[in-house]
Amino acid sequence: MIIHSNLDFSFGAFPSSVLITRGLPTLSRIREDWKEEGPFNPLLVCDEHTLPLARKISGGEKVPFCVIPSGEKFKTWPQVETILKEAREAGLGRDGVFIAVGGGVLSDLTAFAASVYMRGAKIVFVSTSLLSMVDASLGGKTGFDLFGIKNLAGTFYPARHIYIALESLISLPPAEWKAGMAELIKTAVIEGDSFLDQVDSLREEYTSGDFSPGFPQSFIRDLMNSKTETLLSCITLALSCKGRIVGSDPQEKGEARVLLNLGHSFAHALESSAGLGSVSHGEAVAWGIARSCELGLALGITPWDRAERISTSLRNWGYEITVPHPLVQDKEKFMKALGSDKKKRGGQPVFVVPNQFGAQLVYGGTGDKTLLESILTQIMNGEINF
Ligand SMILES: NC(=O)c1ccc[n+]([C@@H]2O[C@H](COP(=O)([O-])OP(=O)(O)OC[C@H]3O[C@@H](n4cnc5c(N)ncnc54)[C@H](O)[C@@H]3O)[C@@H](O)[C@H]2O)c1
Repeated sequence: MIIHSNLDFSFGAFPSSVLITRGLPTLSRIREDWKEEGPFNPLLVCDEHTLPLARKISGGEKVPFCVIPSGEKFKTWPQVETILKEAREAGLGRDGVFIAVGGGVLSDLTAFAASVYMRGAKIVFVSTSLLSMVDASLGGKTGFDLFGIKNLAGTFYPARHIYIALESLISLPPAEWKAGMAELIKTAVIEGDSFLDQVDSLREEYTSGDFSPGFPQSFIRDLMNSKTETLLSCITLALSCKGRIVGSDPQEKGEARVLLNLGHSFAHALESSAGLGSVSHGEAVAWGIARSCELGLALGITPWDRAERISTSLRNWGYEITVPHPLVQDKEKFMKALGSDKKKRGGQPVFVVPNQFGAQLVYGGTGDKTLLESILTQIMNGEINF
């Protein structure tokens, strides 16, 4: 297995090691890496699309499998129950190792199930979507959607080992590349413009301005020729940035970790009001970042040229960033969803907006509340443009 890099993080009492490799890890490799942790009784959890990858990992070994339906629509309690049931039927104890092979939905669900199974089993990820490679796999947030609200139930439970195998991206559909790229752009905005420049070079290398089916094709060509430096560098930078932020605030008690929610209050409100699953999380995040720029601009925090720089990048990547979003005609429903977002401090919503070099928090509860409400209304009316 060709190893590109190895990153080690610590989130409170939980260490997390990330191994970025070219090929998928085999089960024997995962077992070998687990040696220091204790017994290795695995349950491979995957969805219908990542089943071929999970099969490849198992290498024909007889191990229990749990296959659940794929997608945000299925990020719900019945899937958690299925995973718990399979673990029970496979006879796993608290030392059982749940191995999630998939994207962010699959890993959030599996890690949640692991966190409650017999009061806490073990969890390993093999991250297979770009979104999960640059974001969801690291930091320990688990959960599922409940009562139509995204991630309403969840725990903090970081994976002990995270494998990021570039090879798995070969089968990733273009729409999922696009979804992952939005989280990469989000982290680049938080980290600063030199990271954003790298993300833009990735676009120049891989696309002719959109996510045409040629994007995965050119990636496959580059993977074969071992020319994946820009992507590798972007994944490593994104994980290092997220790891540093989460490490300083593992359970989002302070302010640091809230930064990672750039664009997310708007994104979650969009996802809820459009109907969960009708717009991908990544596309919602891209749309939300554009709204955050408008909020920052109206509050005098985001310089005009930075807002322009970020929105140009989003547009060049082919994201829908106009208001109203084509899937949300009911503004009232959107505003209600925005108000009920769970990122709150003292009962008031917290927003993250880009500033001159990175991003910062804005509290709905301080200053002029009516001003914030009127700015949000102006944003939703498309009255703040740049
Ligand atoms: N825990 C966190 O910190 C965190 C951070 C960001 C996002 N998230 C969550 O992540 C979720 C979105 O992640 P996602 O887009 O990876 O979700 P996902 O797991 O649904 O993956 C997206 C789609 O791609 C398919 N897929 C994944 N890898 C594939 C591969 N290699 N080949 C072919 N198909 C593949 C999946 O089957 C699915 O259909 C959201 O629910 C979001 O809330 C969590």
